[in-house]
Amino acid sequence: MVKKEGLFEVEKWLKREGEPLPKGKKRKKDYRDRKTELYVLDILTLETLYKFSKRGIIKALGGPVSRGKEAVIFHAIGAEEEELAIKMYKISTSNFHVMLDYIIGDPRFENIKRDRRSIVFAWARKEYKNLKRAFDAGVCVPEPIAYDKNVLIMEFIGKEEVAAPRLKDIPVEVLELDFDLEELFWRIISEIKTLYNRGRLVHADLSEFNILMKGYEDVDVSANKIEPVLIDMGQSLLLEHPNADAFLKRDVKNIVVFFNKLGLTCSEAEVMKIIKG
Ligand SMILES: Nc1ncnc2c1ncn2[C@@H]1O[C@H](COP(=O)(O)OP(=O)(O)OP(=O)(O)O)[C@@H](O)[C@H]1O
Ligand SMILES: [Mg+2]
Repeated sequence: MVKKEGLFEVEKWLKREGEPLPKGKKRKKDYRDRKTELYVLDILTLETLYKFSKRGIIKALGGPVSRGKEAVIFHAIGAEEEELAIKMYKISTSNFHVMLDYIIGDPRFENIKRDRRSIVFAWARKEYKNLKRAFDAGVCVPEPIAYDKNVLIMEFIGKEEVAAPRLKDIPVEVLELDFDLEELFWRIISEIKTLYNRGRLVHADLSEFNILMKGYEDVDVSANKIEPVLIDMGQSLLLEHPNADAFLKRDVKNIVVFFNKLGLTCSEAEVMKIIKG
């Protein structure tokens, strides 16, 4: 499936770095530099990917799915030919100070060093742990597979290298015509409730931007079979966190506002009661 950008390239990239050049000779830039520059994959990230390939977790690396401020996401193929998403956090993330604040407040991450690298590594580990907790509680999230340093590997939500669209990406007309909006709304609320009651977690960055509509890209799947999948759980926090309640309210508000704009008339207070009940 993924032919052009197989993992052999990761190997070549690394080899290139390791080979000393004759004195006075400058290495010529080639297509690999353009790619690493374009996707901000540093040598450390490539080495981590290479380790995953050695462990048999990734068979081939595909193309980029998304380029955010704090992370890039790539498509990949796993040992069983399954599709994977690889989230690689940038060490140079501008979000470093926010990450630091969240990690300091989390009892699972005491004794973490405060330098940039350690915090970004802890963040990838935190997202893995949050996804695992949510997944084990039965919440619809990508199944986390592995993490190491700044790299997180999880189930790919989508098909044949095309990621499922975010709730935000679905045209309003399609949402209004093809979906039972009331039902979709309560399904999302029920995921938040399961995350809260069984996972003991609050997502803390939930909105139409962090919900993927699994099955939407598949023409054979009817609208009522499309599943909302919650993603991007790096910042999610345990209920014991002093801000958990405020973040839950904000998550609920984002979802309520989104659906009320489409014609529903839900109240945040009522939804909060149902989640906590
Ligand atoms: N498991 C996945 N399967 C398929 N696509 C994914 C997966 N995880 C993330 N993506 C894609 O990558 C995008 C960004 O992922 P995510 O929200 O986790 O990262 P982010 O750091 O918030 O990036 P951004 O700043 O772009 O929002 C998602 O909107 C989605 O399109
Ligand atoms: Mg996001």
